[in-house]
Amino acid sequence: MISLEEVRSRLELAGQSHLLRFWPELSADERDSFLGELSQLEPEELREHCRAAAEAGSRDSGAVGLLDQRMEPMSAEFIGSVSRSDQETLKQWEDEGFRQISQNKVAVLLLAGGQGTRLGVPYPKGMYNVGLPSGKTLYQVQAERIRRAEQLAAEKCGSSKCTIPWYIMTSEFTLEPTEKFFKENQYFKLDQSNVVMFEQRMIPAVSFDGKAILENKSKVAMAPDGNGGLYRALVDGIFEDMERRGVQYIHVYCVDNILVKMADPLFIGFCVSKGADCGAKVVEKAYPTEPVGVVCRVDGAHQVVEYSEISLETAEKRNTDGSLVFNAGNICNHFFTLSFLKSVAEKFEPKLKQHVALKKVPYVDEEGNLVKPDKPNGIKMEKFVFDVFQFSKNFVAFEVSRADEFSPLKNADPAAKDTPATARRALLAQHYRWALGAGASFLDGENRKLPEKPSLSENEEPPAVCEISPLVSCFGEGLGVLMRGREIHSPFILDEKKAEEIRKSQ
Ligand code: UD1
Repeated sequence: MISLEEVRSRLELAGQSHLLRFWPELSADERDSFLGELSQLEPEELREHCRAAAEAGSRDSGAVGLLDQRMEPMSAEFIGSVSRSDQETLKQWEDEGFRQISQNKVAVLLLAGGQGTRLGVPYPKGMYNVGLPSGKTLYQVQAERIRRAEQLAAEKCGSSKCTIPWYIMTSEFTLEPTEKFFKENQYFKLDQSNVVMFEQRMIPAVSFDGKAILENKSKVAMAPDGNGGLYRALVDGIFEDMERRGVQYIHVYCVDNILVKMADPLFIGFCVSKGADCGAKVVEKAYPTEPVGVVCRVDGAHQVVEYSEISLETAEKRNTDGSLVFNAGNICNHFFTLSFLKSVAEKFEPKLKQHVALKKVPYVDEEGNLVKPDKPNGIKMEKFVFDVFQFSKNFVAFEVSRADEFSPLKNADPAAKDTPATARRALLAQHYRWALGAGASFLDGENRKLPEKPSLSENEEPPAVCEISPLVSCFGEGLGVLMRGREIHSPFILDEKKAEEIRKSQ
């Protein structure tokens, strides 16, 4: 291990000698782990990081609205759309997507290194159970959707078996519990070798005067480097793994959208058919201040302007027909070719913008007392996954239906939006619509027919509870044979066993 003297001189070089202020007071164990942590910090990089953070922090108050004058909406020619395409075209795209999946060329990549501060649970968000009748967690739902997509692709394309590898980016906060959870659940019956977890970097939080913050006497306050940390993290063996498997297309998504379509063949097929190297799914923004980024152009290049960086005035701008000018809401669901990701990691990663967040970071003061600040005292710097769009040679956006594809879990109940309750409702409403569409009708406990409501408003509970396992249907497919003409008692769970029973009884 690197010596104390060496660490001391490296910190001096970085202008961060204060980190060793409490060294004489530390126990042997604390010294060991602290030295290990400090030796990870490269002096030049640390110096530059602290300088850049302090500089960014000093001008952050002007960050909102800085881009406004340079923003333009995307032009329609770059946007594909589910609702505006005919059935035949949609089928061609979907077939193309399934073809690529069946040839093992498609992987999914989950961004799961975030701390989920707003939801406020002490474990990774993917382990959250939103209260579905089946009790499934977000991770289980996602795993089962992968298994079903593999099965469908193999069936449709006549291959014996195909694999969609699942790459999961974690951070120091989420790696251990995520690994443990997957082990305890036998990887939800996926082959463990096809679930590849890797870790993004952590970087120090910095005070306004450019000093890395001590969280306690023997620990620097560290935070993940944002979901754009992906591009540095991929270099450590993940590109090799993808190449070894022959993966060419990567579907990247964030952990908290309960409606996420894993390896969505329609989206993959659309992007591949358009020869895109990079793509993003979008939904129509629900209201001007909705906390979603907008996909647009800035100085002519495609970009997402994050909800924290757009001014209210720009967010509220409307076209003459009343629609929002910046209407293409980012749902953190992206398509990349492997070669594009590699070019980003090799050439563009250092150029990615650093986004600044001013945060309340607990720290030890000069006397060694723990302080919980009541106003922001620290600067956290993050890179964002979508900031690579500007380097794309052929970027496309794909507009999808919110009711079918986007219901994120951000806040704890009883908040009004994006909560466990709204996520659960969105999924059950979708399954209810699928069941009605497949020709089922619902009865209550006394065999009375429940009213049919094929179009529910956003916050409306479906009249019947129906949950369909992704292992039976993950895109709404194949339900006619199981449900046509059937009268079903609510609540109803259609899992593999039930589906088998129905098939046998026919
Ligand atoms: C994100 C998008 C926003 C979009 C919204 C849709 C980014 C930067 N912002 O916002 O444009 O409209 O989702 O729901 O993508 N994560 C990491 N490492 C980190 C930080 C985050 O892996 O260091 C992961 C999280 O675990 C999560 C995803 O990135 O899966 C998105 O992070 P989150 O903080 O939830 O982003 P939002 O602010 O909701």
